[in-house]
Amino acid sequence: MLGIFDSGLGGLTVARALEQKFPAAGYIYYGDTARLPYGTKTPETIGRYTVAALEHLQVQGASTPVIACHTASSTLAAHPDIRDQALAAAKTDMLFDVVTPAVAAARAATREGRIGILGTAATVRSGIYETLLHDAEVTQVPASVLVGLAEEGWTSRHHAGPILKELLLPFMRARVDTVVLACTHFPLLAESIHDILGPEVALVNPGVALVETLAQHHLPLTEGPKRYFASDLPADFAERASRFLGRPVDAEQL
Ligand code: DGL
Repeated sequence: MLGIFDSGLGGLTVARALEQKFPAAGYIYYGDTARLPYGTKTPETIGRYTVAALEHLQVQGASTPVIACHTASSTLAAHPDIRDQALAAAKTDMLFDVVTPAVAAARAATREGRIGILGTAATVRSGIYETLLHDAEVTQVPASVLVGLAEEGWTSRHHAGPILKELLLPFMRARVDTVVLACTHFPLLAESIHDILGPEVALVNPGVALVETLAQHHLPLTEGPKRYFASDLPADFAERASRFLGRPVDAEQL
């Protein structure tokens, strides 16, 4: 059973991509709403939270962890010691993160090798994209401020437009041809970002790329229930998740 982990609601963009490809696959989703945001914290703190989250998922029966959270994924990718702790907590030697598929998708999408990374402060600070895309021209923009907007549903051009216009300026100056939406929450703002950057800039949704990776691994995506847990305010999480997924969702406290 897959165990999808995010710091909050944003990982549902990954769950939705998974459901579009494998509608019957069961999974357990854990949103660490008590500790969100992760993106403003240190690698040590993010590592500690991630290890605890994977332990919770393992206890609930998840055998294959899927780290939807970009902040956690980039922290693990940049810190092999934290990754080892995460694997031990999940009692597995294989976990899926969003960084590796995002890098592959960015390489496939770019025409001129000018790639923008829109992530949280911690994702940008991890430096993992500059390392893995060392042969490209990488422009990074830390945009933790967008996480709150996405959590609250303030994603329209009307609401988010003025902030996005400021934030996206470095991408326009660098004339990037591809932008990685390197935070689970940012695909929720994709339409507004697309409006501002224009159709010639490709947007990479790492969640979709991750689901392609899962498909390539021919995992036994067994049929089963979809269960949702949140570490704080599960009823609130359930209400937002129901709106996002377009069907009633219950969430339990974990
Ligand atoms: N889920 C986190 C990510 O994908 C963003 C929200 C946070 O800062 O916790 O980077």
